[in-house]
Amino acid sequence: MKTIVLANAKGGTGKTTVAVNLSACLALHHGKRVLGIDLDPQGNLGISFGVDPRQLTHTSYQLLTAENPDVRDYIAEIKPNLHLIANAIAPDLENRLEASHNRDSLLRLRLRQLKGQYDYVIIDTPPAMRTATMNAIVAADEVIVVVDCGFYALYGLTDLMRQIARVSDAYEKDDIVIRGLLNMFNRGQNLDRDVKKEVSDFFGGLMIQTIIHKNVRLAEAASASKSIIEFDASAPGSFDFLKLSKELLSEYEPEEQKRSATRAK
Ligand SMILES: Nc1ncnc2c1ncn2[C@@H]1O[C@H](COP(=O)(O)OP(=O)(O)OP(=O)(O)O)[C@@H](O)[C@H]1O
Ligand SMILES: [Mg+2]
Repeated sequence: MKTIVLANAKGGTGKTTVAVNLSACLALHHGKRVLGIDLDPQGNLGISFGVDPRQLTHTSYQLLTAENPDVRDYIAEIKPNLHLIANAIAPDLENRLEASHNRDSLLRLRLRQLKGQYDYVIIDTPPAMRTATMNAIVAADEVIVVVDCGFYALYGLTDLMRQIARVSDAYEKDDIVIRGLLNMFNRGQNLDRDVKKEVSDFFGGLMIQTIIHKNVRLAEAASASKSIIEFDASAPGSFDFLKLSKELLSEYEPEEQKRSATRAK
């Protein structure tokens, strides 16, 4: 079970868009068993999968703050292979979480109950480096920092890297991988090409090669509560996200990917 966290303290960079579409590609296209977890009280991950946050009886914040919960009670099946722990606005639970004992490692502890039941856990985080995001990083094998092509793209990244390093020191997570992913790229814009170079220099060899281009169909898919591969398989956004999922799988499961490429020939 590999746990991947989408993070950036900057708002609106595409964390949720990547969480939704990467989860969908891994589960629906590659047949992996995927659990999405929304740690953002805005509840956008659930909304993008058609879940109404007002109807939720079990949320990720309840899971973190409950005493001895059974994680399975909090999981909803969206599709076969694609499961979700959703979230909703709950200031009282956020305060309770902030005040909890061992507050940063609650999610890691809860996820131990699911060992072996999923291939990938994909966690969406809020645009802030507070307790929810700390929980995601403590539980993570890999953090993907989603960077948008706009002004201040690099703003706050050094801080984010420092925070991740602090958490990985405190919890002895020497092997946590931090990678950059460029989103909303528009080839025709000089600014975007400049940002691409700056972000690639910042992440060096840990930059993900696939770039997610700006594509209005991605925003439309989110409004229709669908992943892009279900909403419009021929959209550029579908192509980008399938490419991203293949790039990541060829790193996570190189043998398996080689075997399926041979089978396809
Ligand atoms: N590649 C893209 N092309 C076009 N629109 C995009 C793309 N990526 C994201 N968007 C749109 O940009 C907006 C912000 O994206 P998203 O909600 O995924 O960002 P976020 O980082 O999760 O935001 P927050 O920090 O508020 O949680 C959404 O309306 C989304 O549909
Ligand atoms: Mg979001």
